[in-house]
Amino acid sequence: MLAYLLDEAATLDLGKQIAQCCPQTQFTIHLEGELGAGKTTLTRGLLRALGHKGNVKSPTYTLVEHYSLATRPVFHFDLYRLIDPEELDYLGLDDYLSNKSLCIIEWASQGGDYLPKPDLIITLSYHKQSRHVKIEAVSAQAKIVYEQLETIVVDSG
Ligand SMILES: Nc1ncnc2c1ncn2[C@@H]1O[C@H](COP(=O)(O)OP(=O)(O)OP(=O)(O)O)[C@@H](O)[C@H]1O
Ligand SMILES: [Mg+2]
Repeated sequence: MLAYLLDEAATLDLGKQIAQCCPQTQFTIHLEGELGAGKTTLTRGLLRALGHKGNVKSPTYTLVEHYSLATRPVFHFDLYRLIDPEELDYLGLDDYLSNKSLCIIEWASQGGDYLPKPDLIITLSYHKQSRHVKIEAVSAQAKIVYEQLETIVVDSG
């Protein structure tokens, strides 16, 4: 699915919709797109919808930020500065994949084979002053999310 995101509010809203559709099982989202395309904005919308109140900053230097929310644990990765995918070994990724966690990974392409396989791949791109977003469902459970999203995105014009 390709959709149009007019402004920051639209990107935040897509994040919120994804949060609402995600299954309660472990779920991984890869976020792709150039610098400034809106990956962190989408993550912010998603985290707010799950009850997070504070700031959401890209964990560019720490690689991962953990949000211990009432609904489920969320891990927000930003791998922009990752030099060698092997560095991910030291993060103890297995711990992140247990327990209904939601993993959102910016610059997932930098992580190579060390990362969990995506359920959903979201690619943001510049379109004039706005953005385009491509959403791809990889796993069977993501296809269910995708179908709900498609309805919402189309309905909202
Ligand atoms: N649909 C949109 N239309 C126009 N501007 C947007 C849209 N979505 C987000 N933005 C703006 O784009 C800017 C960059 O967003 P953001 O920080 O989320 O990008 P990013 O992809 O995470 O960048 P980086 O690769 O540096 O981490 C912000 O100022 C944000 O408000
Ligand atoms: Mg970012």
